[in-house]
Amino acid sequence: MIIDCTDETSHDIYKVLLGCVVPRPIAWVSSQSLNETLNLAPFSFFNVFSAEPPIVGLGIGMKTRKDSAGQPTVVPKDTLANIIDTEQFVINVVSFDLADRMNSSSGEYEPGVSEFEATGLTPAQSTKVKPPRVAEAKVSMECKLFQRIELPRSNIVLGEIVCIHIDDAVWHDDSIDVRSLQPIGRLSGSAYCKVDSIFDMPRPRV
Ligand SMILES: Cc1cc2nc3c(=O)[nH]c(=O)nc-3n(C[C@H](O)[C@H](O)[C@H](O)COP(=O)(O)O)c2cc1C
Repeated sequence: MIIDCTDETSHDIYKVLLGCVVPRPIAWVSSQSLNETLNLAPFSFFNVFSAEPPIVGLGIGMKTRKDSAGQPTVVPKDTLANIIDTEQFVINVVSFDLADRMNSSSGEYEPGVSEFEATGLTPAQSTKVKPPRVAEAKVSMECKLFQRIELPRSNIVLGEIVCIHIDDAVWHDDSIDVRSLQPIGRLSGSAYCKVDSIFDMPRPRV
């Protein structure tokens, strides 16, 4: 099977990509509009790209909204609009116990609705940025916008991590204990995975 991406629709390519890059970590992004409405949404086009400086990247698509004349119009998702306006956001890690609420927060709520309220999550004050973190999350990374790369129907957002909150319950021997953190990953379609089979493989010494 060979797929020539130039022959396929973007939706078909999207469905294949979801199976090509697996499992994907989930950035549960809290942000805030200029009028201080809180926002929370998950993004699995996400990873860390550098430790010096500490840089994470997100792929945020657009959404279709009806304008005042009832015409469909393509606009940035609320998360992206907030990041452009405020240049700040927080990435919260999704543990298995928060999976349902993460999924609920992905609903297309109106911009004036806070997903914190809609999903019953608690905003906790951040240290170096204005948007709050999710109090229930065991790890949260406060970020400042480093660079935005505009694509025709999407955006790549690079964020510099300026502060990391780690629950003592998942901190063992000077590092994060993944077994305690219980992060979930996204697979293709509506499938997710848990981290419940871990093996060690030391790097070769050559
Ligand atoms: C697990 C999961 C991962 C998602 N990953 C992405 C993603 O990487 N990029 C994207 O644009 N939307 C992604 N979505 C969809 C957004 O979460 C959804 O469009 C959400 O309504 C955006 O909210 P906002 O308008 O408040 O920013 C994902 C949804 C789920 C459930």
